[in-house]
Amino acid sequence: MTSRLNFICQKPLFDIPADVTYLNAAYMTPLLKEATARGQQAVAGKLHPWEIGISDFFDPPARACGLMADMIGAKAEDIALVPSVSYGAAIAVANLPLLPGQKILVLADQFPSNVYPWQEMAKAHQAEVVTMARPMEGDWTAELLAALEDEQVAIVACPQAHWTDGSRVDLIALGRACRAKSVALVLDLTQSLGVMPFSVKEVDPDFMVVASYKWLLGPYSYGFLYVAPRHQQGVPLEQGWIARQGSEDFTRLVDYQSAYLPGAGRFNMGERSNFMLTPIVIHALEKLNEWGVEAIAEYLSGLTNMIAERGQDIGLKVSEEVFRSPHLIGLGFEGGVPEGLTEFLSERKIYVSVRGDSIRVSPHVYNEAQDVENLFAALEDFL
Ligand SMILES: Cc1ncc(COP(=O)(O)O)c(C=O)c1O
Repeated sequence: MTSRLNFICQKPLFDIPADVTYLNAAYMTPLLKEATARGQQAVAGKLHPWEIGISDFFDPPARACGLMADMIGAKAEDIALVPSVSYGAAIAVANLPLLPGQKILVLADQFPSNVYPWQEMAKAHQAEVVTMARPMEGDWTAELLAALEDEQVAIVACPQAHWTDGSRVDLIALGRACRAKSVALVLDLTQSLGVMPFSVKEVDPDFMVVASYKWLLGPYSYGFLYVAPRHQQGVPLEQGWIARQGSEDFTRLVDYQSAYLPGAGRFNMGERSNFMLTPIVIHALEKLNEWGVEAIAEYLSGLTNMIAERGQDIGLKVSEEVFRSPHLIGLGFEGGVPEGLTEFLSERKIYVSVRGDSIRVSPHVYNEAQDVENLFAALEDFL
């Protein structure tokens, strides 16, 4: 299958056997074969630590941040490396003001790593987390914009694509409204970055965090935090040596430095050099940037539209195209997902997730129309 922007299925770059239908990128993606080779080489590098030089502490992470910056229209120095979304959210909590009685907006059933930190913050400030109810037609943006009319709202913490069913938030409209009302915007883009266009220039969030092991084709325990320049003088979670100026000079590390690295440098996690995982991340981001997020989104929306149509044909519920993401779709079952369905699918080596009353289908660049055929042939046999 070739899309309008000439993107073609990239399955040969992955190690997915012909009898496996993997439609579960929202759970985690397979690594690219080349990224795996680079990772293996990096692990083997520790057999000979004398070959690991000082530049290996600094240059690869800087390259990873540069590639992330290219993807989101930021500068490399606006980006810190973090191990998880919860870590990035904790930095946002530590750096945003909140007064008693004020409100933090989150979406119903939002991923816990972007909910628990706000619940704790609200408790600490006698403030309140307000959970937006799931809109009937799937239009989260309209709900959020209406909720922003409440003067007590101080922070919105949300995704671009809901992790359960891919229902989308128009971040450009939301960002504009947040700025107009001086409301802070904190984004968890783990379920969309890499396959849905996003630019900090258009959205201007206060913080944006993303884990790399899903749509960014990266490894576990590796994420990025974008920090808007207006927060770059803030407080980090840790006080590690590598976030301070002059740390490249290993002979003078105990000439303790009060100055942090510029930009978002102070927010980096300890041991950010991460010799083994960084080469994997770099290769994956190089490929995503080379393909182009828009081309990927357009290719994947061809697949999700096909999934939506085929789902409706067999009586499953899907949200309207305008409220859907290009890459992640829920197929709703009246009265819940039938018992035994996921086991039946996995016996046929078809992999999707169950979230609530829906199965969540999430294709990536290694999928093609045949995968959709395999899924629906199995669903039709089961139902
Ligand atoms: C939307 C979203 N955010 C974050 C995560 C992972 O969070 P963490 O990096 O804190 O483990 C997931 C995992 O499924 C997710 O779906």
